[in-house]
Amino acid sequence: MIMPGLTERQLASYLRDGFLVIENFASHEECERLKRRAEELVRDFDPQGVISIFSTREQTRVSDDYFLDSGDKIRFFFEEDAFTPDGDLKQNKERSINKIGHALHDLDPVFDSFSREPRLAAICADLNYKQPLPLQSMYIFKQPHIGGEVVCHQDATFLYTEPMSVTGFWFALEDATQENGCMWAIPGGHKLGLKKRFVRAPVGGTKFETLDDSPWPDFMLAPLEARQGALIILHGLLPHLSYANRSPKSRHAYTLHVIDGACEYPAGNWLRRSPDMPPRGF
Ligand code: FE2
Repeated sequence: MIMPGLTERQLASYLRDGFLVIENFASHEECERLKRRAEELVRDFDPQGVISIFSTREQTRVSDDYFLDSGDKIRFFFEEDAFTPDGDLKQNKERSINKIGHALHDLDPVFDSFSREPRLAAICADLNYKQPLPLQSMYIFKQPHIGGEVVCHQDATFLYTEPMSVTGFWFALEDATQENGCMWAIPGGHKLGLKKRFVRAPVGGTKFETLDDSPWPDFMLAPLEARQGALIILHGLLPHLSYANRSPKSRHAYTLHVIDGACEYPAGNWLRRSPDMPPRGF
């Protein structure tokens, strides 16, 4: 049997808009399995001495070594609003983590098998990948009340290849609505070109390199609400964002970013993998 990827209609819609929502991609049980696994990982995580915050508003400032070395590890990043002015957690760590990243898909068996679902390889083939490589994964909690905003960006800023090849696979593990901080995107915005790159700075840390400083046409933003189990495929150049979650409901999601191993991956990219742990295909 040939594994079905995208229909012609889905492909046309993706190429026009830069995103595609596929409802019911994952079952309720699969979503719950990933949620349980993330819960276990957080439970076993000892935050002593490794408090690292994730903020997209001040991304270069918070690029500490814990973040920079996370490309081939499973690491835990806190919400900016999780702390009191004295630096103590306002609530338990389970309700304070922003995300887990960035190699869940290689290091954790539960996330590995979900990420290497044959339908994803079939979709990559339809998107013309020669050598699809899942490079980066994140479990995003978007916690109730304190889930931070993610400012408008293109994934190719962070996972840059020549030519551009990154695609985001974003799985709603819980219903994502405007109330709890669903994703928003600029339909067709993937045709506007890459605005900036996020690279390692020669002096240490990271910096943004601006390629085009024109503003986003953000009046065009459309909400991408998604039910649990939906997959949203995001073109690497699609401008997208999510607002803070001030609601009492969490909005868990899992994302997998795939690049083409046939493209060049510049050495200056922020995300690095140890030579002992090269990216592994589907
Ligand atoms: Fe993104």
